Amino acid sequence: MPTLTCVEDLRQQYLRRVPRMFVDYAESGSYQEETLAANRRDFEAIKFRQRILTDVSQRSTATTLLGQPVSVPLAIAPVGLLGMQHADGEIHAARAANPTVIPFCLSTMSVASIEDVAAETGKPFWFQLYVMRDRAFITKLIARAAAANCSALVLTVDLQVLGQRHRDVKNGLSVPPRMTLANILNIATKPRWVKEILSTRRRSFGNIVGHVTGVADTRSLGAWTNDQFDPTLNWGDVKWIRDQRKGKLILKGIMDAGDAEKAVNAGADAIVVSNHGGRQLDGAPSSIAALPRIAGAVGTRTEVLIDGGITSGQNLMRALALGAKGAMIGKAMVYGLGAAGEEGVRQVIGYIRRELDITMALTGVNKVSEIDRRVLADWASNWAAV
Ligand SMILES: Cc1cc2nc3c(=O)[nH]c(=O)nc-3n(C[C@H](O)[C@H](O)[C@H](O)COP(=O)(O)O)c2cc1C
Repeated sequence: MPTLTCVEDLRQQYLRRVPRMFVDYAESGSYQEETLAANRRDFEAIKFRQRILTDVSQRSTATTLLGQPVSVPLAIAPVGLLGMQHADGEIHAARAANPTVIPFCLSTMSVASIEDVAAETGKPFWFQLYVMRDRAFITKLIARAAAANCSALVLTVDLQVLGQRHRDVKNGLSVPPRMTLANILNIATKPRWVKEILSTRRRSFGNIVGHVTGVADTRSLGAWTNDQFDPTLNWGDVKWIRDQRKGKLILKGIMDAGDAEKAVNAGADAIVVSNHGGRQLDGAPSSIAALPRIAGAVGTRTEVLIDGGITSGQNLMRALALGAKGAMIGKAMVYGLGAAGEEGVRQVIGYIRRELDITMALTGVNKVSEIDRRVLADWASNWAAV
């Protein structure tokens, strides 16, 4: 067994263990994948200011997110179909989040249902909501999340229509997956994945099947979801949801300072600066490039989180330096999950936490609250004016 030291090592294992169709689903961006590439590339342009001879023996990566103590300012991003990356994937990821003390966010498009995750973990988690045309179903989903003791509702606002990912179309990624010869041959090379998936009963969209009239199985579900994304979604719907949701509300998918202002006015307890991991508007800037302006506009009135390209503690530190209170991880978490289930996700969180800790030490910082633009090289000329 090779020694694993970083998220990329887990990704290599992930690529060997998980069928191509689901790897492509996780790793693709929409269209020309410009935004997907920018999400990673733009972090590298941000350099740290190396500091020396400061006592950094009292370091801690612990802080709070939405009032909740966390061991590192990270949360697990909502990711659809986790149960196809690893059998019972949502439950593994939620369990990994628990001892490492970071929030887990369950996607509407999860395989394990809200109730399953609540029963299997016994701990509060966040629930991500897609608003679909069937508003009666949405009202029920919000009530189900409240009944399951979900501690925050994450409303995703950047998916009124679906950005196309070419490889998903070519692979026939659908519900149920289209069994082309290429897919069958590839799945045949992943015996461990097949054995684990066959051992679980969770193999469709658990939040939807059985809860919507006319959707009894995965075949009718495919037709239902395709015409459920709602292009009429607007700020009135956010108000409608705010009125139903008494607890914490997070708006995810904000890339514009004006929209961030509106989100605060609509009563968001936090926002996530996000371009959906480069999966929606191709040609949008990276989320790290959008962050400074948004944090500058609303950072004192709401908690600003970010996602997109966070695969290391160094990138997390850069995001904190530019005004984020914390970050969500999507693909990095998927790599750990596909590679080694709960343990793999725990390792990912551990790598990022330790990398943040060492980066804090080498930039002369002891507390997360001390991280600001002063930890960046040339911060005065490059970043202060943004
Ligand atoms: C495979 C996959 C599925 C996703 N599914 C959802 C989803 O169901 N709901 C949602 O709000 N965001 C979804 N996202 C977006 C993530 O929540 C997050 O914004 C993005 O992954 C962050 O970028 P990163 O992957 O570079 O960390 C998904 C992302 C991936 C990679």
